Amino acid sequence: MSDHVRIYEVGPRDGLQNEDMLIPAERKVALIDLLSQAGFEKIEATSFVSPKWVPQLADAEAVLAGITRKPGTDYAALTPNMKGYERALAAGVDEVAVFASASEGFSRKNINCSIAESLVRFAPLLDAAKSDGVPVRGYVSCVIACPYDGPVASEAVRDVAQALFDMGCYEVSLGDTIGAGTPESVATMLETVLPRLPAERLAGHFHDTRDNALDNVMAALALGLRVFDSAVGGLGGCPYAPGAKGNLATGPLVALLEQSGFSTGIDREALAKAEQYLRSITASA
Ligand code: HMG
Ligand code: MG
Repeated sequence: MSDHVRIYEVGPRDGLQNEDMLIPAERKVALIDLLSQAGFEKIEATSFVSPKWVPQLADAEAVLAGITRKPGTDYAALTPNMKGYERALAAGVDEVAVFASASEGFSRKNINCSIAESLVRFAPLLDAAKSDGVPVRGYVSCVIACPYDGPVASEAVRDVAQALFDMGCYEVSLGDTIGAGTPESVATMLETVLPRLPAERLAGHFHDTRDNALDNVMAALALGLRVFDSAVGGLGGCPYAPGAKGNLATGPLVALLEQSGFSTGIDREALAKAEQYLRSITASA
């Protein structure tokens, strides 16, 4: 099994989306440029969602236009519908991500539709991306528990993840949106998903509400996952998931992986510069 772990840096999106104070686009650009220097293969730069729903990321076009693209780094963005996809494509993203939920309550609060409706909405986006040659990542939120519906059945996670693969997502990231997971519950969930879907195409996205995220990464590593999402400085959460405090912080994740014998390709000194800059531009990092 590979000893390389890909870290998908989601701070500029999953981190900043939760900041109340509007951060000017040029500061987001500067943060992304510092992250690019740290050697990430993937940086989720922003979201092309409704600016009424997430005002902080209303400047997605300006952010993508401002960054200095580093060869070898893919710049990604969330796209909930065709309108978002078209905006993202015009802005020159390298890949997009659709986001579904394993729980109905979160689906309605986050994207204003049922799970089934969200999949119908994603289908034309996946078709367009295929003909445009744009890779699409999928997210499944609330893989352990939902802030509205409570505990979530692992079979629901498996079925939504399977639907996203069937539509053409190259990878599906399993989101513990409110950080409810423990190594045991994460392993139980993965043991339901893995007989159907290969570990090489799954990612772990663990919010760190209860300080369990690193332990959850270890549980997922033991079951073969080699891609993890994290945010510089542990910033963030989700405006539609009360209690979803921080994301798993990238620095401690890199440290844990490297201590455990995995390579990440991340330059820790460069990452520290991005963390330092983040602290200077946000209230919560
Ligand atoms: P809606 O209100 O049902 O959409 O929202 P609508 O199609 O009826 O459109 C309403 C208005 O929004 C219209 O404008 C549209 O043009 C506009 P109006 O006519 O009123 O002026 N609109 C858009 N504008 C720009 N870009 C777009 C877009 N789409 C519609 N793409 C919608 C539905 C999905 C748009 C909305 O619910 C939304 O934007 N939700 C996004 C919420 C969000 O970003 N949540 C956080 C990300 S998910 C997350 O954090 C979880 C994750 O990290 C994994 C985990 O941790 O579990 C990924
Ligand atoms: Mg998240």
